[in-house]
Amino acid sequence: MEIRLVNGPLEQLEADALVALCAEGAKPGGIADPRISELFESGEFTGKAEEITILHAPNGMKAKRLVLAGTGAPPEFTSLKARNLSGEALRKLKSKGLRSVIFDAAALPDADWVAAIVEGAILADFEPDVHKTDPKKNEKHIDSFAVVGGSQAALDRGRILGEAQNAARALVNEPGNLLTPLKLAAAAQAMASQFGLKCDVLDQQRMGQLGMGSLLGVAMGSAQPPALIVIEYHPAHETGVKDHLALIGKGVTFDTGGISIKPADSMEKMKYDMAGGAAVIGAMQAIAQLKPAIAVTALIPAVENMPGSRALRPGDILQSLNGKTVEVLNTDAEGRLILIDAITYSQRLGCTHLVDAATLTGAIVVALGHLRIGAFTNNEQFLARVMSAATAEDERMWQLPTDEEYKEGLKSAFADLQNIGTRAGGSITAAMFLREFAGDTPWVHLDIAGTAWLDEAKPYLAKGPTGVCVRSFVRLAMDW
Ligand code: BES
Ligand code: ZN
Ligand code: ZN
Repeated sequence: MEIRLVNGPLEQLEADALVALCAEGAKPGGIADPRISELFESGEFTGKAEEITILHAPNGMKAKRLVLAGTGAPPEFTSLKARNLSGEALRKLKSKGLRSVIFDAAALPDADWVAAIVEGAILADFEPDVHKTDPKKNEKHIDSFAVVGGSQAALDRGRILGEAQNAARALVNEPGNLLTPLKLAAAAQAMASQFGLKCDVLDQQRMGQLGMGSLLGVAMGSAQPPALIVIEYHPAHETGVKDHLALIGKGVTFDTGGISIKPADSMEKMKYDMAGGAAVIGAMQAIAQLKPAIAVTALIPAVENMPGSRALRPGDILQSLNGKTVEVLNTDAEGRLILIDAITYSQRLGCTHLVDAATLTGAIVVALGHLRIGAFTNNEQFLARVMSAATAEDERMWQLPTDEEYKEGLKSAFADLQNIGTRAGGSITAAMFLREFAGDTPWVHLDIAGTAWLDEAKPYLAKGPTGVCVRSFVRLAMDW
């Protein structure tokens, strides 16, 4: 889909469809067709939020169709709603087989809105069907999405963010047989070389020499070798920013549970257990292009959790990179085991602020459903920064507690820690486990098990991976 800027009087613009925004009860200005009044008078179209109506051969216009898109009352219409509305319109028009769309963004307040319109269209254009072989599947696609009003810079920003999220979504969609840890590393390297970032992939041997026993333990049950993917962004010039952000993403390319095996029902979804890793790779793709003032290092511990003959057994004891020993009581609590070695390694690389994103616990779905990301921290000020970036991007988070007492359940008789607590408060004990390794370094943990995957399509987004956290991470870095 080509994205471009167009100018000129609306009537003169040629396209299969021209999308015009309509506030509730207010007819769009500058369009002469009397049928618009009729639509409003009959109540068939009112301008309610997310309402979309298509009018063929609008009077005096070159566009073949006029699409009225309702925004609701103006105070309710935000750039975030604009993103979804643009996406909804795009998916609707695409499903009808249209090829070229023009979006009238001339009346929008500022560049953020224009970026949101473009981003929404790109996100909406994503389809999870790359492995379907029927050539007909390509019959319906939008070739050209043009925006009236706005600047090239706003268009570019929207495009960069939209593409970064789609890149993450594409990785998450890949099944476990096609996206192994080494393939994920290759994808990260390809992205890094395309966008001018440094990418270092630590293999099993190097991780062994360093002493990453916890990460390597999880990898034991799989024939697929593990990798620790490290991608670095540094500002080109001295910016005066001394902080160094680490974005750490869980990269379990498939989670069977290992010896503590998961039930068969829905196990296929566990290909999305690398959604945190994918989000971090996507965020780095945008960061490379938008160039924030802070240094950012992404770390993705990538493994496959399988019950092979060399797999971890319940009761096994592992020594992590920072020296602490862990008794593995449940091999399905593997995310935390790989994340702790990545956390320690990020500290060794000099990172001063750590954020991790992980599809860590089923319990977070019980607690927060599919709307909010569970957020945990050892530093309230840092969490406030992360949450304000997330709020601005409409990626909703909710803080959960990290009182010391929650640590009790992680005491082991045989090692420094055990990898699970009691069933109660499962997302919190998982976070407490990670916290032990973050120490005093400001750290935020985001449990995205409930928000990284859409079980049903939305009008503006296909079923499957959401790309959650990409936008928040990019904004966090840009706002530093
Ligand atoms: N990857 C899962 C968490 C998960 C569950 C993600 C459902 C997405 C949807 C994680 O590795 C896991 O299995 N966690 C266990 C922890 C338990 C053994 C303490 C869980 O949530 O059941
Ligand atoms: Zn698991
Ligand atoms: Zn997992």
